[in-house]
Amino acid sequence: MRTTVGIIGAGPAGLLLARLLRNEGIDSVVLESRDRGYVERRQRAGILEQGTVDVLRAAGAGERMDREGLRHDGIELRFARRRHRIDFPALTGGSSVMVYAQTEVCKDLIALQLREGGPLLFEAEALAVEGVTTERPRVRFRHKGQEDVLECDYVVGCDGFWGVSRKAVPAELSRVFERTYPFGWLGILADVAPSHDELVYARHERGFALLSMRTPVTSRLYLQVPEGTDAGEWSDDEIWDELERRLETADDWTLARGPVTAKSVTPMRSHVHEPMRHGRLFLAGDAAHIVPPTGAKGLNLAVGDVTTFARALTHRRDTGSSDRLDAYSETCLRRVWQAERFSYEMTTLLHRFPDASPFDERIQLARLERLALSRAAETDLADGYTGFPLE
Ligand code: FAD
Ligand code: DHB
Repeated sequence: MRTTVGIIGAGPAGLLLARLLRNEGIDSVVLESRDRGYVERRQRAGILEQGTVDVLRAAGAGERMDREGLRHDGIELRFARRRHRIDFPALTGGSSVMVYAQTEVCKDLIALQLREGGPLLFEAEALAVEGVTTERPRVRFRHKGQEDVLECDYVVGCDGFWGVSRKAVPAELSRVFERTYPFGWLGILADVAPSHDELVYARHERGFALLSMRTPVTSRLYLQVPEGTDAGEWSDDEIWDELERRLETADDWTLARGPVTAKSVTPMRSHVHEPMRHGRLFLAGDAAHIVPPTGAKGLNLAVGDVTTFARALTHRRDTGSSDRLDAYSETCLRRVWQAERFSYEMTTLLHRFPDASPFDERIQLARLERLALSRAAETDLADGYTGFPLE
């Protein structure tokens, strides 16, 4: 098999890239190791930045998002049983975010790709990327038990944190920057209307809690839990009891409970692999970087990377200049590091660290108080949350 761009992974990064390239008349093949149902049902991100919404619309993939997505103009911070709202449009000159699940983004992009785009092979596992410093890189893969080779002009590794593409960058050229956290998030999906019309990020002595949503009748909630926690250790009642404690306010707000339909634990880490390009191999999304989920940045960064790649390749085709492809890693990394900083700050602002001293806890509360008192501090949070611009 032969194509211009070989794309490994059909998460949001790989699927959107295939769509962007197809819109520019550039052919690609997407290889995805899992089956379609798995990709469409994997519960993950829920928040799309303004820039992500704009990219999906411009790519012709925004129709259902515009019908079913929920525009959010703010979030609530909860601490010391108090509530403080951050008003995004007022602080940023009009930006907001959209609640529209990653599962739905993937379903929309898969349907479009199968109807209008190039090959998208499920159950096609990339085994290795070879010859990336030659003009003809190759992806060796196994599709339904058969080994095959995809010959390409470029390979884009969109295969997430556990993928194979990153391994094709020689160790002596790679630098990894990493931080792990001694906790994870226990996330549930529940058939109950969200108890607040905006997301609530709560700091509590017992740990962080987040109230989010998927639709007007489906809630998504998260609890900070110790690293290594098994979701099965928590009964549904224990989860609701703990959410209630951590989200409690001094006023008459209450948390509505409903049947839990999914339950899982996500570990937390910050991770950046530099560079994001080696020869004709480009890394995009979680294959190159991970953020802790507190800032809702992972999917949005993935969208930024593939948009940058698609524009750079189009520029190369239209002008013959490789300048933008050559600058891909530096261009993406500037935005990636801003998102890493933001996600780190949101994580340390809101979580309980097991080794935190009483001094650390007072500083954490002072940071939250500062947000409630200072428009400058609020503006910085609103800017980061609604998203850093693409260059
Ligand atoms: P992935 O979605 O991981 O996709 C990679 C794909 O590659 C997968 O389909 C995988 O099966 C496939 N693959 C792997 N190896 C191979 C191989 N060898 N061959 C072929 N295919 C392969 N981000 C946000 O922006 N906002 C949020 O609100 C948010 N909340 C989150 C909440 C949770 C609980 C979690 C876990 C994550 C959250 N994220 C959020 C992060 C976001 O989900 C990820 O950053 C996003 O999925 C990255 O997309 P991706 O396409 O780069 O990688
Ligand atoms: C969701 C996930 C996040 O990481 C976040 O910061 C906000 C919302 C969600 O899954 O809804």
